[in-house]
Order: sequence, then structure tokens, then C-alpha cells
Amino acid sequence: MEKTIKIGLLGFGTVGTGVVRVLRENKYEISRKIGARIMIKTVLVRDTHKKRPYMEGLQLTDNFQTILEDNEIDIIIELMGGLHPAHEYMLQAMEKGKSIVTANKDVVAQFGQEMFETASKHQVDFMFEASVGGGIPIITPLRQCLTANRITEVMGIVNGTTNYMLTKMTQCGSDYTAVLKEAQEKGYAEANPAADVEGLDAARKAAILASLAFNAHIGLDDVSVEGITRITPVDIEYAKELGYVVKLLAIAKDSPEKGVDVRVHPAFLPKNHPLAAVNDVFNAIFVRGNAIGEAMFYGRGAGSLPTASAVLADVIDVARDIVNDTFGRLDCAYFEKKRLCPLEATESAYYVRLLVADQPGVLGAIATAFGEQGVSLNSVIQTRKVDHKAEIVAVTHTVRHAKIEQAVQTLQKLPVVTEVRNVIRVENAQEAV
Ligand code: NAP
Ligand code: HSE
Repeated sequence: MEKTIKIGLLGFGTVGTGVVRVLRENKYEISRKIGARIMIKTVLVRDTHKKRPYMEGLQLTDNFQTILEDNEIDIIIELMGGLHPAHEYMLQAMEKGKSIVTANKDVVAQFGQEMFETASKHQVDFMFEASVGGGIPIITPLRQCLTANRITEVMGIVNGTTNYMLTKMTQCGSDYTAVLKEAQEKGYAEANPAADVEGLDAARKAAILASLAFNAHIGLDDVSVEGITRITPVDIEYAKELGYVVKLLAIAKDSPEKGVDVRVHPAFLPKNHPLAAVNDVFNAIFVRGNAIGEAMFYGRGAGSLPTASAVLADVIDVARDIVNDTFGRLDCAYFEKKRLCPLEATESAYYVRLLVADQPGVLGAIATAFGEQGVSLNSVIQTRKVDHKAEIVAVTHTVRHAKIEQAVQTLQKLPVVTEVRNVIRVENAQEAV
């Protein structure tokens, strides 16, 4: 093999280390598949003195200009994370004719359109498979394999950290803070794990998936977001009792009647729902298209090696483009303007947990409050007492979000209701066993 394609790696943390390791271990096969050798020439980090695994033989720098001005470097792998300076570095690199491979959902969700346009203008590739679903191929399927479809729905579990946490809290009764720390130690969480537990990471991924699926620019502001911070062990126990598990879902739907509905929130899912069995760091994403029907993508949603797998798949694609003197084969543009469905118009069943006075007539008052707002109840249970109060759990039939909000406001004003302790959506309620 004559040609060697040289890479500048920005970031040598969890994913960066995985990339270097997989590239070393699978070097021969990867080069054969490309038809050229590839090598990481320079690595950008903040701290060049830190000891790191797999660093031998690599040239480290803390100055981006060293990589930017190096005309031998054709590909930049961006694995620093965060919006800035990653956004500016990638733009500058494309302006210098370097192709980009990134795992950075913050930048893709916020500046995707600008990145695609810059790549096209400078005749380079911009690839971001690892930005959603960790090791699972989902971006390339949406950009390529399923692109003949009109896609109406993308739904799934897209955050490994929270799925790991909810699994351990459900299966082992683990403590929230302890299990978040475990997820951080395993390298699953974002630099600021608030992005995981508050649902922002999943919302960025939902925005990316919806934009690709529906050919429209769906920004982070268009996604309604709720994380798992309000999920307590008590809710998890009630979910079990009622035949459900709690999952953080990303849902994106496009319908002519309602428009585009994109949201991230925790939900009760029936135990027999396929997503209920997606545990630990695994992610799964359903796609519904008018030709394929339903397709499901499943695998590890975070972690060093799975994410490196997705990053290197993109690197191989870009390197093949360089070998063949082409670019932009996986073009994507958010060309359609789509109407957004307001959150109030979305529909779901709901679990509502209330602390009420333990006295006769309370259940009737609660049922009346729901009924007055047009919310019909599927089931009501009362099993626990808390400080001489009764805890009541009601599960509604499917209702518009606006109605459940009105019902909760009415309940909060009832003298017999001490507190509405939680309200969680119940997806596919009819399947519960
Ligand atoms: P990480 O472990 O925190 O590593 C970040 C690396 O970037 C570090 O080596 C750090 O240098 C370097 N860095 C950060 N800011 C820098 C700056 N301003 N200048 C120079 N170097 C800088 O992060 P990670 O978990 O590998 O994640 C990297 C990216 O992949 C993020 O966009 C993340 O969302 C995405 N991602 C992560 C996973 C996962 O499982 N972790 C999965 C999918 C996607 P120092 O080492 O010197 O501090
Ligand atoms: N923090 C992210 C997660 C990393 O837990 O899913 C993968 O994008």
C-alpha cells in the first residue's frame, strides 16, 4: 500500500483512547478495507503531561494550530465534546480542506445545517455516526439505507447512562447517586452528567434523529425535555406492581394531522414491550417507514470501544472517499419546513401519584376532579401510608397532555390532597400484564 492517510485526533479521553486502541488492534484489516494505511499523526489534549493508556508513539499537543496548519493531515476526529471550541475547530478544519468525524451531538444538534453546508462548500466529508446510539449504526441507516422511505416515527432509548441507572435501580434497588457515579466510572456519562440525567443528551440525539428522519431542521428548542431526576424508588416499585418498567424514551413522530412531535421523557412501559428488555448501557431505536415497516437497531449506547467502533466506521468511509478522490456521498440537508406539534396536543396515558388525607370520600373527590377535566381513569390503587396520609396511584386512559395538566392543577387545589407527588407518562398502556 502506497498511500498513508494522516489523522489529527482532538481529545484523548474515554472515546479517544478507544479509537487509538481499536485502530492499533485492527490496523491490518482496516488498512486492507480502505486500500491505504491510516495513522494518527497528532493528538490534541488539554494536559500533555498526563499519563494515558495507549499513548506510546503518539505526538501530543495542546495547540490546535499545530493540527490545523499541518497539510499532511486529511481527517480530523473530534472527541473533545461540548459546543466550544469544538464547533469552531471543526469549521476551521473544514475550511482547510480536512474531513471531519465527530461523536459530538451538542454540535450536530445545534449547528448541523452549518456543518453540512461548510462540508459541501469545501468539498469534504462531515460524519457523525457516534453522536447517537454509541456503537449502534443508526445515522448511516437513516442517511443511506432507509433514505427511500418516508419515515413517520423514530422512538427509543438513546441514553446509556440513564438506562444503566434505571436498570440498576429497578433490578438491584441501587441508590440514584451511587449508580450515577458507577456510570461515570464506566465512562458512559457526559463530562457534565446533568446532561444525561436531565434528558438533554437524549434530547440532542432526538433532535438529530428527527432532523434526519423527517428532512427538517429540528433544533433542541423544538424538543420537549424531561429527565429522570424526579423518578424515585417508590415510582419504580409502583411500576413493577402495575406490570411496567420505567425507561427514558426519546420519541419523534411526524403526522400530517399533528405535525412533528419530538420529546424526551421518562415513561412506564409494559414489561412485555420490546424496549422494556433493553437494559444496562444498551440502547435501542425503532424506525417506522412507509416501505420498510418497522426496523429496530440495538446495541451498546455508550462506552469506549463501542463508540470507537462507530467513530472508526466513519473514518474508514472518509478514507475510502479520499482514496477514490470523492466526498459527500452521504449528503444530508434539512430541506423541509415542518409544523411542530405543541406539547399540550400530545396524547398519552398517565400515572399520577398523590398523597391524600386518609378519610372516607377521598377517592370519590379525586375521581370527580379527574372526571371534570375529561380524564377517565383506568385503575386506582392505594397500598401505602406515609405519615398518616394515604398514597394513591391513579393510571388514566389516553388523554391530551393539556387535560392532564388541568386535572393536576385541580387536584392540587383539593383540600384532601396534600401533594401531587409525581406524574409520569404510560406508553402502550393497553399491553400491561
Ligand atoms: P472525555 O473522556 O471527557 O475526553 C475529552 C477529551 O478531550 C480529553 O482528552 C480532554 O483533554 C480533551 N479536551 C476537552 N476539551 C479540550 C480543549 N478545549 N482543548 C483540548 N483538548 C480538550 O470525553 P469522552 O467521553 O471521550 O467523549 C468525547 C465525545 O464523545 C463527546 O462529544 C461525547 O458526548 C461523545 N460520546 C461519548 C460517548 C461515551 O460513551 N463516553 C459515547 C458517544 C459519544 P484532557 O484529557 O487533557 O483533559
Ligand atoms: N452520555 C452518553 C450516554 C454517551 O450515556 O448515552 C453516549 O452518547
